[in-house]
Amino acid sequence: MPDTSPVRVLIADDQPDVLNALRFLLLDEGFEVIEARSPIEAVERIEAADFDLAIVDLNYTRDTTSGQEGLDLMERIRAVDPSLPILVMTAWSSVAGAVEAMRRGARDYIEKPWDDERLLFTVRTQIDLRRAVRRSQRLQAAHTRLQRGAVPAFIGDSRPIQQLRQTIERVAPSDAAVLITGEHGTGKEVVATWLHAMSERKSRALVTMNAGGLAEGIAESELFGHVKGAFTDARYDRIGCFEMADEGTLFLDEIANMPIRLQAKLLRVLQTGEVQRVGSSRLRYVNARIISATNADLAAEIAAGRFREDLLYRLNTVVIELPPLRDRREDVDALAAHFLAHYAARYRKPLARFDDAALALLRAHAWPGNVRELAHAVERAVLMADPSATGISARDLGLQPQRVSTDAAKPRSLEDAERLFIEKVLADHGGDVRQAAQQLGMSRSALYRRLQQYGVRE
Ligand SMILES: Nc1ncnc2c1ncn2[C@@H]1O[C@H](COP(=O)(O)OP(=O)(O)OP(=O)(O)O)[C@@H](O)[C@H]1O
Ligand SMILES: [Mg+2]
Repeated sequence: MPDTSPVRVLIADDQPDVLNALRFLLLDEGFEVIEARSPIEAVERIEAADFDLAIVDLNYTRDTTSGQEGLDLMERIRAVDPSLPILVMTAWSSVAGAVEAMRRGARDYIEKPWDDERLLFTVRTQIDLRRAVRRSQRLQAAHTRLQRGAVPAFIGDSRPIQQLRQTIERVAPSDAAVLITGEHGTGKEVVATWLHAMSERKSRALVTMNAGGLAEGIAESELFGHVKGAFTDARYDRIGCFEMADEGTLFLDEIANMPIRLQAKLLRVLQTGEVQRVGSSRLRYVNARIISATNADLAAEIAAGRFREDLLYRLNTVVIELPPLRDRREDVDALAAHFLAHYAARYRKPLARFDDAALALLRAHAWPGNVRELAHAVERAVLMADPSATGISARDLGLQPQRVSTDAAKPRSLEDAERLFIEKVLADHGGDVRQAAQQLGMSRSALYRRLQQYGVRE
């Protein structure tokens, strides 16, 4: 795959006519050319930004014949960026200086006056090599953190999910920043995976970084990478998530938990497209599509001073809201069937359906943990079921709504409380409506009406 960022070449010489001639030649090739008129300037340039190649003269005015200044310059460049290919230029016909330079790590040398074609050939070869090495480094690093395998299924046919599919199809191919919101377990990560899979970047990496749960310093080097010696434990250069996601997608999960100081640094990178590894002042250009997710109320986080408003505006070009499962109960059957097929195959059980009582329970449950809770409940039921059974029973499910103590399960109205109570009684009786009605002191038909009203029974 071609690398689309511009090729940047540094040329260092103190003779203006040499710089001019080189510049025109390289600009003509479509390269970005940055000039340095002295060894000091060359080192400053390389410290400040990322290059694909440096072409440096060995002889400067202070000492025009020994080539010592050029050799010193090479060492200093290699100290800043050991992987940057260096071509040296020698003005006098002795190759001794060039040989010494090669011994010290120069990739090739060019004799002045040069032959344009040969120079360009040498330059292109070094740039191709450099890009190939970087690509394989990036892939290696990305492999270790890529969720491998197929894109997860995205089940559901309720109106909100239909709309969501449309939005994903429309937005995925663009580079727009997408913010995905929704309660725990609603499928935010599934949506992020789909956005990447349906984008032009699908053959490149999708890199996930959980923005919370890490100490600030560690989170920063995770995100931007670090150089050897940046802090006590930094024994090697390390590439960060941003660079790994170059040309691909960076998924910033739990974005609301990102430490506020890191938010400021992230904002700057999003504004400039330039990343600095911790401990280095060099800027590296990255082109990553940003998807972020949160289950927090970002407006409230902003009001509380815990989240930067200007960062939000960089992340939320498109907002995708995932509704909780209780607001799209129509999807419960299809999701439950999907997970049943999945886990029955995994645990090699002949299970193929839910019996009526089990289905009633699934439909009645409040699912405070959303799709994840449903997946776990079905997995547990598959494990609990009799080895020869073909159907999941209410008992296998063992759903106990009264024990769930998240906000979503807390009644917010009298009607909610009634519904939760009815669900509990129904669960206690393994989904048996007749027994549940008896305990509740109401007729079966009255209970059925209530269940219909809650969307539990058709
Ligand atoms: N529509 C869906 N179809 C199939 N599986 C789904 C769907 N939505 C969610 N899942 C599954 O439910 C589980 C939870 O989904 P996911 O991890 O994407 O949720 P999340 O919103 O990121 O949750 P959290 O906020 O806790 O990180 C995963 O196993 C996922 O594969
Ligand atoms: Mg998630």
